[in-house]
Amino acid sequence: MPAQRTLILFKPDAVQRRLCGELLSRIERKGLKIVGLKMLQVTPELSKKHYVEHVLKDFYPLLESFITAGPVVALAVEGPEAVLVMRTMLGPTNGRQAAPGTIRGDYGVSRQMNLMHASDSVEAAKRELKIYFKPTELLDYTPTLAQWVCAADELTFGTR
Ligand code: PPS
Repeated sequence: MPAQRTLILFKPDAVQRRLCGELLSRIERKGLKIVGLKMLQVTPELSKKHYVEHVLKDFYPLLESFITAGPVVALAVEGPEAVLVMRTMLGPTNGRQAAPGTIRGDYGVSRQMNLMHASDSVEAAKRELKIYFKPTELLDYTPTLAQWVCAADELTFGTR
C-alpha cells in the first residue's frame, strides 16, 4: 500500500490560541510523518485558489475573512491512507457537533473557528499541496521507527 500525502492547515484560531504544538503532537503521536511545514499569511488570492469550490457559496466571505485574519501553519503529512486518517482525527466541520476524541471535538465550539483544515480527498490533497508547497519543500526521508509504526505490507515510506 503506497503512502498518501495530505495538506493540513492550522488555521488562524489555532495559531492565536497557541495550540499548534498540541495539534502537531497529535499528528506525530498518531504515527504520521511530517514531510513539509511552514508558517504563512494566506492572502485573499490564495484563499480563492485553495477554496475554489466554495467561492460562490454564501459562507465564502466569512471563510475568506477568517483564513486571512492571521498566520496559518501549513503541513504536508504522509502515511498510510493519510487523507482518511487526518479527516477522521479532525472530525466534522462544526466543533459543537464533533465527537470528543476528535481534534474539533476536543478543542472547539465553533463552525467557523474550527482549528484545522485537512484535504477531503486524494485528488484535493494533490491539488492543495501544490498550492502551498514547492516540490523542493517536501522532503523524502525514512523515520528510524517506521518499522514499529506499520507492517511492511501496509506501507512503503517515501511513495505516494
Ligand atoms: S460544504 O458546503 O459542505 O462543502 O462545506 P463544508 O465542507 O462544511 O465546509 C467547507 C469549508 O468551509 C468552511 N466553512 C466556513 N468557514 C467560515 N464560516 C462558515 N460559516 C463556514 N462554513 C463552512 C469549513 O470549515 C471548510 O473549510 P476547511 O478548511 O475545509 O475546514
